[in-house]
Order: sequence, then structure tokens, then C-alpha cells
Amino acid sequence: MSGVNITSVLQETRKFPPAKEFSATAHVKSEAEYDELWWKAKDDPTGFWGSMSQNLDWFEPFDTVLEGEMPNTKWFVGGRLNASYNCVDRHLKTWRKNKAAIIWEGEPGDTRVLTYQDLHRETCKFANVLKSLGVQSGDRVTIYMPLVPEIIVAMLACARIGAVHSIIFGGFSADAVAERNNDAQAKVVITADGGWRRGKEVELKHAVDESLEKSHTVQQVVVLRRTGTPITMVPGRDHWWHDLMAEASPDCEAASLDSEHPLFILYTSGSTGKPKGVLHSTAGYTLGTMMTSKWVFDLNDTDTYWCTADVGWITGHSYVCYGPLANGATVMMYEGAPNWPHDGRFWEIIEKYKVTIFYTAPTAIRSFIRWGDEWPNKHDLTSLRLLGSVGEPINPEAWMWYHKVIGGERCPIVDTWWQTETGSIMISPLPGATTTKPGSCTRPLPGVVPDIVSKEGESLPDNTGGLLVMRQPWPSMLRTLYNDHERFLKTYFSEIPGCYFAGDGARRDEDGCYWVMGRVDDVLNVSGHRLSTMEVESALVSHPLVAEAAVVGFPHEIKGEGICCFVTLTTGDGDDALKQQLKDHVRKQIGALASPDMIRFSNALPKTRSGKIMRRLLRDIAAGRERVQDTTTLEDYGVLAKLRASEE
Ligand code: WT7
Repeated sequence: MSGVNITSVLQETRKFPPAKEFSATAHVKSEAEYDELWWKAKDDPTGFWGSMSQNLDWFEPFDTVLEGEMPNTKWFVGGRLNASYNCVDRHLKTWRKNKAAIIWEGEPGDTRVLTYQDLHRETCKFANVLKSLGVQSGDRVTIYMPLVPEIIVAMLACARIGAVHSIIFGGFSADAVAERNNDAQAKVVITADGGWRRGKEVELKHAVDESLEKSHTVQQVVVLRRTGTPITMVPGRDHWWHDLMAEASPDCEAASLDSEHPLFILYTSGSTGKPKGVLHSTAGYTLGTMMTSKWVFDLNDTDTYWCTADVGWITGHSYVCYGPLANGATVMMYEGAPNWPHDGRFWEIIEKYKVTIFYTAPTAIRSFIRWGDEWPNKHDLTSLRLLGSVGEPINPEAWMWYHKVIGGERCPIVDTWWQTETGSIMISPLPGATTTKPGSCTRPLPGVVPDIVSKEGESLPDNTGGLLVMRQPWPSMLRTLYNDHERFLKTYFSEIPGCYFAGDGARRDEDGCYWVMGRVDDVLNVSGHRLSTMEVESALVSHPLVAEAAVVGFPHEIKGEGICCFVTLTTGDGDDALKQQLKDHVRKQIGALASPDMIRFSNALPKTRSGKIMRRLLRDIAAGRERVQDTTTLEDYGVLAKLRASEE
């Protein structure tokens, strides 16, 4: 985090107040109502969250709302409940029993609808399957599946019996799966033969087979048949989903779990070392995702709500599964890519299912812009009433395009800032209350108390760039990093004592709106997903021809940030064939999402006299910027000219 010196250059003055018709029926109807909620939560957090907790169904009431201080907090102490019960069972006692919980479309065009009753039956059966495989409360279960309804069934089945799920996004490689299985000491892996992506098959089971050569805690594998491709089933270890389900009973009571019982682990990248196993707990997380879904997406029973994220990321955990289902919403899911078989697939789906709420990422929006307005213009998008954005700062021009072309200048846009660690949305407009500004995630949600501080931890005045921190705990915050509480304390709570430090730079304007400027650590944000420069570097260095590597981000039109690798070889000068080999090597080690955009060979890297790589210089070179920088600590001046000449 050296050299934090953040100057905000964005000057955006357009403002969009909520439309009267929207506010009239919204859950939070005005700025005044929002202010009242926010101040109530700030002044009396336990009173506020205590009353909010009544939105959950409890098996046993809690004694204390909040125990301890950041970083070691416990919420709803002594209470007992079940997340699966809150997402499914409680709706069966209402008219929602036969309401669609999931409307799903596969990439090839196959469709399915699961009512809450259907979801309950499948979840109970699969929970019994897990029990029959020896899974007990607290055991870790890896889920590595395509975006099919069964991934939700698998998650809710784990939650039902108190097993801790660890979902690995299907784009990760076998090595990445093995590393996560080992860290979590997973007992069972749930996967599929494959999934569909742009007409091609993602071979999930093959990757699992390869990963299991390196991870020895896994005893059983459950395989869903999705693509029908031939795979090997290892007798005694591998079981077909449909065989096990055929035998399973549809009755399985939801376990009564402590409020703080771990719900899931989700691995995310940090600036150093191996991926961090972010651990979320049952009550706080379920309540956080439920309330924020209601406030931010203004969810109603008549909505068809579509969050395009894969369930393998936190956005999918919180806003495809737990948050909307706890509200009894109808969730749209689509398995495949937005540009298959044509660039208008998303708009076709919105028209076909009359989607009302659409939540996607700026990287996708930039692709839509490039593919051309003719695609959305071919479809009737008037069912939409609310749009959302997540994953990285949205550039004002992309915001304006989203507003005009997709929203028909009618739909409010909620630009939602949050993180894997925060579990639920932290800073975002409330669509019936907040005046939005293109590029700003606007104001903190009730119960969220952010600040902008200097490196020394002092609050900074408005319109001054600094570090984004949280001054008060919130229910859905991560509880620890799995098996590494030290790293948890160091990463989030040591930088600015007494605060949660998010790793982002931001400023707050005169209206109290936040403008997030991006990460201040060595973490890239590629297509809205966090990647550690260090992980890409170690993948490169594991290649026999690579002596040293430095990885930096550079502005990329579609992905937000591209990956640029400066590589020093052990011998030879390197050529295009080797560049390709190194790109493939990184894909193999981490997965396609980490595939480098640029490889540049150089016989030396710019270093300080103490041997630290000077990344800010590399960042300028990667971006093609000829900036006059402070290079007084640079050890070898000649190296810069050589690096500039190394252009791909
Ligand atoms: C990082 C968290 C939370 C879901 C997806 C990513 C960036 C996320 C925004 C936004 C500006 C954003 C931040 C944050 N980020 N949303 N609306 N505006 N930046 O989750 O992988 O945990 O990444 O994504 O830099 O720290 P994640």
C-alpha cells in the first residue's frame, strides 16, 4: 500500500432524482425516510438490527444483538435458525408455495421452472443425499458446477444440515480447485460432467478428476449430468446426482443452528499469498442479504428479478441465492454467455420473461455498448423498472448508455459498492429515495458507517481522495479467513486501527455521495473480479523459462483492467510462441479469467536499491503513459528505456 496519493479527476455533475411514480410504491419512498433509517441505525445499531432481525424466522430467539467490537463481533448471540429454512420452508406456509422461485434457461435454450415447493423437495432430498455420503454439520463441501438450478439446491442442502459450502467458479482450473479443496479440507465435491459456454463445453468433471490427484481430503464426488459428454466415474468415489436422488427421501428437517454457525467459505484474491477463504456466518449474512435485496432492488412479489452473476462469485451467493430467496422473490437464471448464439441474448431473455429488475457488471455493459444498440433495440425492454451495476466503478458514459438504451430513461440505476468480505451491499442508492449521479455509488445503506481517511487514519474533508473504511460493524461482515485468523486481522484491521479497511480508494462529495476510485493494493479488478498480481506472478515464475515476473494492470476498454506481465527469462530473448506458451501456462495454473493480455520480455525490471520492484513505473509503461515520475530510488536508469521498447 505504499505511495497512496489519490487525486480524483472525475468531474461529474449530472443528477437524476427518483421518479415520483417509482417512489410512490417503493419500500423506501424518500430521502427523508432514508435519512431516518440511516440515523436510527447509526445512533442505535443494536436497536435497529434487533428490530430488523424480526424479518427472519428463528427456531430460538437470541439474547444479545451484538457482542464484542470490530474485528471480533458476534451477532444475535444465543439465537438459533437455518438459512435454508429462511429461504424456502417459510414461504411454503404462504401463498408463495406455488410461486416460481427459479426461472431458468440453459444456454442451448432448454428451460425449467422451480416453485418454492419444488425447491423445497429438491433441497430436502439432496440434503439427505449429503447425509448418506457422511456429510455432517461443520464439514466442508466444494461445489464446482455450471449455472443450473442444482447449484442452488446444493447450496441450500448444505445450509440445511449445517455443512459449509465452498463454491469454486467453473472458470477456475484444476490446480485452483485442488488448492481450495486442500485449504478447506473438503470432504465432498459436487460437480457436473460439464456446462455450456458459447456453444462449447466446459469440462468440469475432467478438472475435478485432475484436481483430486492433488487433494486428498475429498472422499466422495457427486456428478450432475448436464452436457452428456463421456466422463470417467471412479467406483466407490463418484456417484451420479440422479442415482442418489432417486433413492433419497423428500423429508429432511432443517437443522437448528447457532446464529454464528459458518454458512460458507468463498475464496477471494488478496495482494499476497494464497487465496483467502472468506467465511460468512448464518444469521448476520442471511439478514444482511435479505434486507439489502429489499431496500436496494425494491423487491416485490410481482418482480422477475435477474442478477446475471455466476453463483460462483459473491454476487451470485448473495443476490441470486440467499437475498432474493429469503424475500420469496422470483429469480431468473441463465446458464450461458451474453453473446451466444448472438449478441442480443440477454435482451431476448428480458423480453421473453418480462424481467423487471436487471443487475449486471460494468464490464458487461461496456461489451453491450461495443456490440451496438441494434441488439437491445430489437427487443421490447419496457418490462424493466430497475437496473443495477456491481463489480467495479462504472464510468459515467457507460452509466448514461445503460440509462438511455436499456433503461429507456425510465429506470433508476443502483450502482452497488460492496465486496466478498462485506457479504452484502454497503453503499448504493435506494431507488425510490436517492438522487443518483453517474459514476457514484452514492450513500451508505442503513447500518453502514463509512469514512474516508488518510494513511494515518484521520478523517479527510469532503472531496479529498483517501482510503475507504468502515467505522462500525455490520451483521453480514466476514467473521474470519478460514484457518487464518491472523491474516484476517492483519489484512482488514491493522492498516487503520479500529476500522475495517476495504482496500479501495475513494472520496465523498459535498452531498455525502461516495466515488470509489479502485484498489490501492496490488490487486487487479479484471471484468469485475479480483485477481492478485502476486498469484499471476507466481504462476509465471513456475514456468521453467521464467526467472522473474512483475504483473500490473492497465486500462482495458472492456475488462476495466487488463493484465500486463513483464517477464525476465532464464535464457534467450523470447518470441511470440513463448508469449503464447506463458499465457497458456497461467490459464492452466489459475484459469481462463487470469489469462494475460500482454506479455513483455525484458532482461531487467525497475527496482529500488533495496530490490523492490517499482510497480508504479511499470503501470505507466503498460498504459503507454510517458509520465515524469519520481525515479530517485531507481537503481538502474537504463532499464526504463528498455522496458518501453519491449512493447507487444
Ligand atoms: C471490489 C470487491 C461485490 C461484488 C463483486 C466484486 C470493486 C465492487 C463496485 C462499485 C466501484 C466496486 C471494489 C471492491 N467494486 N463494486 N459499485 N463501484 N468499485 O466483489 O471480488 O470481492 O471485489 O470490487 O474495488 O473492493 P469482489
